Amino acid sequence: MISKNSIDLVFETARVEEVLGDFVQLKKSGTNFKGLSPFTDERSPSFMVSPVKQIWKDFSSGKGGNVVAFLMEHEHFTYPEAIKYLAKKYNIEIEETEQTDEQKQLTDERESMYLVSEYASTYFQNTMLKTDQGKAIGLSYFKERGFTDETIKKFGLGYCLDEWDAFTSEAIRKGYKLDYLEKTGLSIVKGEKQFDRFKGRVMFPIQSMSGRVLGFGGRILTNDKKAAKYLNSPESDIYHKSKVLYGIYHAKQFIAKEDNCYLVEGYTDVIQFNQCGIENVVSSSGTSLTSEQIRLINRLTKNITVLFDGDAAGMRASIRGIDLILEQGMNVRVVVFPDGEDPDSFAKKNTQTELEEYLEENSKDFIEFKASLLYQDAKNDPVKRANLIQDMISSIAKIPNQIQQEVYIQECSRIMDISEEVLFSTLSQILAKEGKAGPQKAVKTKALEVVKDSAQTKTKVDELFELERKIISLLLLYGTVEEEFEDHVWKENKQGELILEPETHKAKVFEKIFLDLQEDEVAFSNELFKELYSLVIAKLNEEGKLTLETFVNELDSKLSGEVTTILMEEEQYVLHDWDRMDITVKRKDESIARIVNETILALRRFLITRKIDELSKEIKETPSETGSQATLEDIVDYLTLKNILSNKLNRVM
Ligand code: CTP
Ligand code: MN
Repeated sequence: MISKNSIDLVFETARVEEVLGDFVQLKKSGTNFKGLSPFTDERSPSFMVSPVKQIWKDFSSGKGGNVVAFLMEHEHFTYPEAIKYLAKKYNIEIEETEQTDEQKQLTDERESMYLVSEYASTYFQNTMLKTDQGKAIGLSYFKERGFTDETIKKFGLGYCLDEWDAFTSEAIRKGYKLDYLEKTGLSIVKGEKQFDRFKGRVMFPIQSMSGRVLGFGGRILTNDKKAAKYLNSPESDIYHKSKVLYGIYHAKQFIAKEDNCYLVEGYTDVIQFNQCGIENVVSSSGTSLTSEQIRLINRLTKNITVLFDGDAAGMRASIRGIDLILEQGMNVRVVVFPDGEDPDSFAKKNTQTELEEYLEENSKDFIEFKASLLYQDAKNDPVKRANLIQDMISSIAKIPNQIQQEVYIQECSRIMDISEEVLFSTLSQILAKEGKAGPQKAVKTKALEVVKDSAQTKTKVDELFELERKIISLLLLYGTVEEEFEDHVWKENKQGELILEPETHKAKVFEKIFLDLQEDEVAFSNELFKELYSLVIAKLNEEGKLTLETFVNELDSKLSGEVTTILMEEEQYVLHDWDRMDITVKRKDESIARIVNETILALRRFLITRKIDELSKEIKETPSETGSQATLEDIVDYLTLKNILSNKLNRVM
């Protein structure tokens, strides 16, 4: 664990504008910086960075947060990875707590294995580009496959000399320990002797999500039938085959941007696609996909497109593994390449546009694909058909979303010409065996009702949402500002009548909001706002101030996301001030009191209107005379209150 001290030090030191400046071209714009969103393809800049508040906001994707949130979004780092990245950038030494000696040794050992792998990768690249044998054998092989210098560099491709221990002895001469060379599998130790595992092979370094070299794939160049075509690094403390995807380091940001991931089988498929201009692609390196690998993709997108070579036998074998993807709630599509082609050969022969068109036109939903493929074999054989139903429905049973399950049942019913009822009952049998409940036919209409219902109430819900959000925003931005508030209180005039008289008093914005809402016992309906409200009020009450930069860092990611959005919206007015003029004017400090009053009143009026609606409905539904009499009186009271509030609102507006 990284110590709290180190985390604090990192936050104190890191400047959001400096860190983000490494990824986004930022231009000064007033007190802020702006640039093109790294998350979408946009022409005019809507990405804002505030050096004062130490936060960023991307108005085109809605993302935003502090410096760590950016690294987690953009580089897909975990929290500790982001902290370590920043520590490295600012030369801060990270203190780790709670590490036993044993853990420390393991960390050191892993670190040494990373270093040795990094060294090997550079060595293999240099060997290929700078030695005669490397150029004549390794480089010319890759050139023949159509890879450009740029591509070779991007993927760090290299060559291991066809000698027994050229690499190993050079590494040892450079001071790398034989122990780590052996543990990473780069060298094979037999008694007194050491050998290079990858002797005479071209090398594909395998990188982690954050770009560290974990291991290698080495392809043989001879036609030796006995030797494996590809040799991979053995499992080690840093290389876990089931947890890495080849190409993920280069693909991650494109997967997120395109909101889709292409999954291919081989190293060369990934590389050739990249060279062709399609960069959201990774490979499972010949093995069937594991759930850990799917989780890596799931962090980036919900959509995965599996690309199959054009041979039917292989396809039938691999579709089994796809149930794993469905299980994680991902949407799976499938593209089959023409007979005899794999993604590599197809991409090599075609332009980017042609490839894109092919992928577009030939991508099919997985369930439909599987049903059509298998139905061809089964349609005339009743036993095969029964098996097919079982097979299809067990795939559908893996999908966590019930509505999606239903849609697929309808599809399958159409493709395989079997009634929906039969498919539904097979599904509930399978689910019952696994102890799960499934969708019934009846569920379908209910789900639709729910959708309809929420559409009707949508506008009302939005109004409440906006009002609650505005209260939070006022608290965050102006909580401690002291203002003159005008309240209307009932007073007796000379004639003895009760009239509303204005009365002014000084208060801080947060005190005003807190007291007014408490008076009416208003509780926030949105859970996020409710939590933020009590946090902010508590902080202001206890400390009398709210330092936004540190406050954001104290919140969990959901809350801090919301807070940054609110804070940055203020900046957006600066960005688009021409079309938000009226609001900019209203936002001037002199009218804070007015906005606060207006918002509280509008919220109260909204809640009262809703109460009146509820009561009216109750009257219509309760036949009892006495009951409805009491309710009617309540309504009248509320209506009076509503009128008063409306009057007040008109006065402040
Ligand atoms: N593979 C492996 N070991 C093997 C064969 C294959 O690890 N003996 C993995 C490699 O990751 C390879 C992938 O499976 O990239 C796909 O295998 P294949 O289709 O045979 O290789 P291609 O990528 O087409 O290789 P090439 O075009 O270089 O022949
Ligand atoms: Mn191939």
